[in-house]
Amino acid sequence: MRGEMGEEGAGEEVGVDEGGRGVGVLEGVQGEESEAESEVSSVAEPETFEDFDWLREHLLLYDVIFQTDTAKEAAFIEGAAALFCTSRVQGPYDILEPGCGTGRLMLALAEHGHHVAGVDASATALEFCRERLTQHGLTGQLQLGDMAKDEMGNAEYDVAHCMVSSFKYLLTEDEAVRHLELVAAALRPGGLYIIGMHLVDYEYYAEQGERERWRELREGLCIDAKILSSPPCPVTRREEVDTFIEVKADTSPEAPPIPPALSKYQGRRFHCHWQMRTYDLEQLLATLQAVPALQLLSFHDFSYDINVQADARLDSDQLTALLVLQKQA
Ligand SMILES: C[S@@+](CC[C@H](N)C(=O)[O-])C[C@H]1O[C@@H](n2cnc3c(N)ncnc32)[C@H](O)[C@@H]1O
Repeated sequence: MRGEMGEEGAGEEVGVDEGGRGVGVLEGVQGEESEAESEVSSVAEPETFEDFDWLREHLLLYDVIFQTDTAKEAAFIEGAAALFCTSRVQGPYDILEPGCGTGRLMLALAEHGHHVAGVDASATALEFCRERLTQHGLTGQLQLGDMAKDEMGNAEYDVAHCMVSSFKYLLTEDEAVRHLELVAAALRPGGLYIIGMHLVDYEYYAEQGERERWRELREGLCIDAKILSSPPCPVTRREEVDTFIEVKADTSPEAPPIPPALSKYQGRRFHCHWQMRTYDLEQLLATLQAVPALQLLSFHDFSYDINVQADARLDSDQLTALLVLQKQA
């Protein structure tokens, strides 16, 4: 199935599941492998992969993998602002992205005329982001910092957002709560904080954890990524995540030539490991309640449709959460 054609290339999703991490596929490993899954399983053994930190090196790989839903995510942020934001009558809005990474959403929102700012702990990601904005004749305010420790502003923003489970990079309750307090301080009263993240089902994934798989095309390259997560534990709430990436040439007839700067990636395989904190719906709601300055207004899922509410009951089996929180006066 061909995904959306972005300005920077074509994305190809290989299968779709409602629980996908924003892009690509999320599959419980308890069922039979799909054709796509068995295909990616046939990539080389893990020891042939080069270890790397995908948030600090070869940022293009990270950026390609997460590109698929960018337009939908940006539209959701703008739709939520138009519906719920009361700090400003209408856009353009002042928008903050804690954990902005390579700035794919900053670019999409800046292109629509919003004033964008991003905070990230990775200097290389910020550099990628700065160059990308500059190449498009746009600017953004970029801050190297820790989104759980450093001030991100004082009543300066109408909207803040943190998509693709970046909130789960905060590994303790103290960090998560402090982060929410810092975002609340950065927002104007009536402003919004939008969080998109995966939830876990501790029972369903207790044995084997989860798998996700993406295949994306950009600038003549085909990037195949497989993500394996350890079984989530409701006590430690630490998920060990391994990503295996294989970069090949895009052999489709319409593929553009690979630019010289990117040819170094062709034929290489990469591996990275990181940790995330896990949340089920109850745990997420408990963390949010610790910061009354942000009140939950609206609950959605990764269909990114602002007009469709998701099921926010504790007994639901909702596995993606797209939350709209509002800064109280
Ligand atoms: C999954 S990426 C998401 C990037 C971007 N928000 C997007 O949607 O494409 C998570 C980002 O959060 C950053 N990050 C993780 N922990 C952080 C922290 N404590 N403070 C600031 N940035 C952090 C990482 O460096 C990375 O760029």
